[in-house]
Formats: sequence, structure tokens, C-alpha cells
Amino acid sequence: MPKTLSFTLLVVVLVLSSHHENSWSQQTAQTKPTKAPHYQLMPRASRDGIGKFYQDREISQVMGHMGASWLERAGRQNEERPDLLIDSLGIQPGQIVADIGAGSGYFSRRLSAKVGQEGRVMAVDIQPEMLAILRRSLTAADISNVTMILGKETSPNLPPNSVDLVLMVDVYHEFSFPHEMMTQIYSALKPEGQVVWVEYRLEDPKVPIKLLHKMSRQQVHKEATFQGFEFVRSYEGLPRQHVLFYKKTSKDASAPTP
Ligand SMILES: C[S@@+](CC[C@H](N)C(=O)[O-])C[C@H]1O[C@@H](n2cnc3c(N)ncnc32)[C@H](O)[C@@H]1O
Repeated sequence: MPKTLSFTLLVVVLVLSSHHENSWSQQTAQTKPTKAPHYQLMPRASRDGIGKFYQDREISQVMGHMGASWLERAGRQNEERPDLLIDSLGIQPGQIVADIGAGSGYFSRRLSAKVGQEGRVMAVDIQPEMLAILRRSLTAADISNVTMILGKETSPNLPPNSVDLVLMVDVYHEFSFPHEMMTQIYSALKPEGQVVWVEYRLEDPKVPIKLLHKMSRQQVHKEATFQGFEFVRSYEGLPRQHVLFYKKTSKDASAPTP
């Protein structure tokens, strides 16, 4: 090969690879927290994922607010039996319950009835557009015991030691910073508080949901225990979802209330 041609080829290869490296580092710069020991970043995301792995699981993309009507679909009652889910939570009137990833408010409205006027639902979402949809649905239902909170990817912005129950329906797999989120949720729970993972069953091929939006029971357990939670119980009565209850480790749970 003539020297000038091989030099030109070398320059083209270098320019192309530096462009690739640039877009890769831009992508990582957007998602990388200041200290990121818990995540692995892949050069290519899979179709519904963000290319970022936590505990060997690729994190899924966030469901956009344009899909809010799907959350309110009429068939959801029969497909998912939200009534059974709500009953399984054992909520007492007067409790403070956080609905993380509240979306359009499908569960916040139902939780509102359970906690009653003495209690409160903290409805957290990271999309202001979702909170706007939620606000309209609360107004339409004349509900006044739900507080809306704009969360961050790394925090639900809840005060420490303030919540009796944290409900996460179909959202945990979307957390782009699950470790940071769960550290904050751990601290927001009261000593005897519990956190509930509700995730579509990955083990069941008949559940018609994209793979990265499903989780196995084993994977939830692996991540929850890695984050310092202890398994309490599961509810097996839903047609499509796992319902897995965890609490703070016994040492923290028995600590005196600050
Ligand atoms: C699939 S929707 C589920 C909504 C609701 N839980 C339901 O089942 O009807 C997931 C919601 O979680 C929100 N979300 C994703 N990551 C979040 C985070 N780190 N903190 C709070 N909300 C989050 C999304 O904006 C979206 O509204």
C-alpha cells in the first residue's frame, strides 16, 4: 500500500474511533454518579434498556408520561387485580405511605382511601408531566390527603424516618440509580417500616411485558439484600406480579427513634 494511502486510512480510523469514544463518554457522563462503584456501563444499550447494569441486571428505560393512559386502562383491574394488591399491604388508617413512581396516581388514589384523613400518601415521581396528570386525577376525585413530590433519579426527596410503608409498583426496574434510591428509601422508612417491590414475574413467559420491565423473585431478593433489607413475606395472589415485602435489618429496626 502506498505510504500516503496508509496514512490517510490511519487518520480516518483514529477520527472514527475518537468520535465513538466521545459519544460513549458523553453517554456515561450523563448517567455516571460522582461515586459509581455499583454500576457497569456497556457501550450499547439493549432495545428497552439504558446500557447500565446493577447486580447483573440491565436497568430499563423509564416509561414516558405519554404512556400514562396505559396505566389507567380499564382492563387493568382484571389483568392485575390492584384491589388484591392494596388489601395485601395491610395498611392501617393514619399511616404514612409513599407511592414511589406514582405515575398517573392509579395507586395513590387507592392508597388515599386506606390511610384515611388522619394518614397521608406521599406520591413521588421524577416526571413533572406525570405529576401534572396526577394533580388532575386527584382534583377530579376530590382527594386531599395526597402530597405530590418531585423526586430525583437518586432520591425520592422524603424526610428521614417518616414513612410506614413504601410501595413501588412497576418502577424499581426503571430506577437509573437503584442503589442511591434505595439508600434514601431505607433512611426514609421508620424503624418498623416496610418496602414493597411489585414487579411483573420474569419467571412467567405468559406475562405479556417486555423483558427488562420484568424481574425474577431471585433478582429482587439479591438486590434488596445487597441494599441491606431483610425479607419479611411475599403475597402470591396476583395474576402477573410478585409482591415482596422487606424491612430494615433488625439492628436498625430496633434502634430508638431519633
Ligand atoms: C411504569 S410507571 C408505573 C406507575 C405507577 N406505579 C402505576 O403502577 O400505575 C413508572 C413510573 O415511575 C417513574 N419513575 C421512574 N424512575 C423513578 C425514580 N427514580 N423516582 C420516582 N419515580 C420514578 C416514572 O416517571 C413513571 O411515572
